[in-house]
Amino acid sequence: MKTKIIKITSLARDLDKIRYVADVIKDGGLAVLPTETVYGIAANALDPAAVSRIFEAKGRPHDNPLIVHIADLSDIDSLVSDFPKNAKKLAEKFWPGPLTIILNKTNAIPDTVSAGLNTVAIRMPLHPIIRAVIGQSGVPLAAPSANISGKPSPTNSQHCIEDLFGKVDIIVDGGLCDIGIESTVISCAALPPKVLRPGMITLEQLEAVIGEVSFDKSVTSSIPLARRASSPGMKYKHYSPDTKIILLHASFKKFANFVSNKAGAAALVFDGEEKNLMIPCVSYGVMGDAFTQSKRLFSALRELDRLGVQTVYARVPELSGAGFAVYNRLLRAAGFDEIYL
Ligand code: TXA
Ligand code: MG
Repeated sequence: MKTKIIKITSLARDLDKIRYVADVIKDGGLAVLPTETVYGIAANALDPAAVSRIFEAKGRPHDNPLIVHIADLSDIDSLVSDFPKNAKKLAEKFWPGPLTIILNKTNAIPDTVSAGLNTVAIRMPLHPIIRAVIGQSGVPLAAPSANISGKPSPTNSQHCIEDLFGKVDIIVDGGLCDIGIESTVISCAALPPKVLRPGMITLEQLEAVIGEVSFDKSVTSSIPLARRASSPGMKYKHYSPDTKIILLHASFKKFANFVSNKAGAAALVFDGEEKNLMIPCVSYGVMGDAFTQSKRLFSALRELDRLGVQTVYARVPELSGAGFAVYNRLLRAAGFDEIYL
């Protein structure tokens, strides 16, 4: 397939390009679009044939449901069978933004989108480009992250080109994603509501709005492939570079000592630590600052693969607040391999 790469820098100036992307989507095509979290591969969520093409392009297992993206609160009415009070409060507080809410679905949502579940994941993104495409096409967009299944999510258009060139109709280049890791996923179809995937909107922030929220077991444990997970996506090895990653819970001093005699190893570290290590290093942000870390983590994982080393030892982010979401992605990249020194 021929893939068009379209650079969009300003909505006002590039309105004809937005119209073109919207037309391709209305015709059943696939467009990779930037969001504030990561790039997504988008199709008309109400068109089962178009949605099937997403699964093909990504090599995604069919039992892993997609998030449906909307631009206005009124768009949700035809998609969910009920919109409980707690979900409404979350939507009011965090939409548009990096929060996905799982609700009971209506028949308007094809089975291909929900993977046969009776729920649907809904998100109202903040990024102006995807919002404009939803508005212009007049349909909700099913959009998983725009990576080949199992690879780190893409945070710039180059990552999308690496993974999906030739497999989609359009890749929109809208620059670097602000947040860099995927949205927080909360199920309001469960009581009490459950976080299925941590993100930059933290458990504490959610609880401040609706009271008790719990983490689903799948957030911190590795789930055998055969077992059915509450969030089907969490059972697959994720965000996984080709290189073996091991998380080292240790002070920097102990970390440096541990890796110093490791042949064929590299280190994933915080800014400024490289100069104190003798092995190849990639840094992924400022120590203690989850926002720089989330923004750069997935790029750093892709960069590590290019080093051609066997093993990467990684510095661990803070385990509380937004740092927990960064830790969650790293833990999955490491296939749950951690060492405590
Ligand atoms: O930030 C994001 O959420 C990005 C951007 C593009 O919006 N999208 C994204 O989509 O990360 P994806 O498909 O890579 O991850 C969606 C996650 C998966 O783990 C999937 O299993 C889960 O949400 N999910 C979707 N629908 C669900 C449902 N009905 N019940 C439980 N989990 C669901
Ligand atoms: Mg994904």
